[in-house]
Amino acid sequence: MAGKIVLVVGGGGREHALCMELNRSKHVAELHCSPGNAGTSQLATNHSISASDIDGLLHLAQKIAADLVVVGPEAPLCASLADRLELLEIPCFGPVARLANLEGSKLHAKQVMRAANVPTAAFHVLSHESQIDAALDDFAGNPWVVKRDVLAGGKGVVVTSDREEAREFIQSSLRSDGQVLLEDFLPGEEASMLVVMDGSGYVCLPASQDHKRAFDGDEGPNTGGMGAYCPAPVVTDEIRQRTIETIIEPMHQYLLSSGTPYRGVLYVGLMIPESGKPNVVEFNVRFGDPECQITLPLLKTDVFEVLDAAASDRLSQLDVEFHNSFATTVVLAAEGYPQKPVKGRLIHGLAEGVLESDGAKAWVNHAGTDFDDSGQLISTGGRVLSCSALAPTLDASVKLAYQLIESIDLEGSHYRNDIAFRAL
Ligand code: AMP
Ligand code: GLY
Repeated sequence: MAGKIVLVVGGGGREHALCMELNRSKHVAELHCSPGNAGTSQLATNHSISASDIDGLLHLAQKIAADLVVVGPEAPLCASLADRLELLEIPCFGPVARLANLEGSKLHAKQVMRAANVPTAAFHVLSHESQIDAALDDFAGNPWVVKRDVLAGGKGVVVTSDREEAREFIQSSLRSDGQVLLEDFLPGEEASMLVVMDGSGYVCLPASQDHKRAFDGDEGPNTGGMGAYCPAPVVTDEIRQRTIETIIEPMHQYLLSSGTPYRGVLYVGLMIPESGKPNVVEFNVRFGDPECQITLPLLKTDVFEVLDAAASDRLSQLDVEFHNSFATTVVLAAEGYPQKPVKGRLIHGLAEGVLESDGAKAWVNHAGTDFDDSGQLISTGGRVLSCSALAPTLDASVKLAYQLIESIDLEGSHYRNDIAFRAL
């Protein structure tokens, strides 16, 4: 099946990682990315259509005669990009809007988990201020977890031991959204399980762990993710098996029974308590960013074959294999990220391509980058890039990723020094 034309939608580190792997595929003849970044421009043809312009993307997919559209972010999926590609008979990796609502609405996700008997935190749905006190009392004794029921780009959740802060976030969410979730606090360690799914089956990718807080020691504000590693040893074989039995299998069955198959990747955010019985913290309907950057390189099977099979319900015919290695990525964030990132600064010291030595390799994943009018590399986002490495041991991959990031110069930038510390 040589000579395939693939369009990747999105422009962050995740999409650069998708382009890197697709570029290596023996099946892909033409790679396009929209809107992409400086990194994707070196692997694919970048187009200037934003990921929110659904009509524009449909037109582009037709114009380039795409054989496969791979959707990076959730927003276009929630806005029916996959539904409309299906009408045009263009295979799409990414679920239809009704299923993407697992990420679009946290309340919907909770209702699905309840219906599928999948373990998750108990919760209240509040729609009136008069319900606040009783609900806060019900979950007193632990921090309160308040979740807005909207796509909030990672800013819709507050976890706090301060009752007044919880109350104020509930009140402001009620005013803006009409309802809000209050969840029971789950203690434990988090991990991300990415599961490629279609109507024929599913493939669990090796579990990873992200670091969501901005600063070392899990301090500071929540971010999109400051670094990740894979596989995460916290997900032992036993926990992985239990996750499959109690979460993945029932979710797959549930999604099968609901009409259109889920074709894409289901991101299962896990909380693993000391008992080892995993709970679901959240679902996302896309690859995690930066989890994608360190999970895809562990695939031994051609990534196009995996994504293309899932887009057309042929996953169960594929024998997906993985490398027996570890991958780590460390995010370089702009000054002021996550509150107010400074953009438009020059980036120096970037290594070109993939550096290989002694069975290990290292590379830079671009995220918020572009070339200015004079062709110089500049920052354009909060998470600017991440330095990634693959090695036979976790320790070696961490060292290599840090070696790479130390050589990069971006005024005011910061990164965490303790990626993978829980596992080392
Ligand atoms: P979410 O957007 O639902 O993933 O929530 C963002 C973050 O809040 C998660 O990554 C967890 O660190 C934390 N969180 C969410 N729900 C809970 C919960 N029920 N118990 C403890 N922490 C939670
Ligand atoms: N890294 C977390 C996410 O992609 O949602």
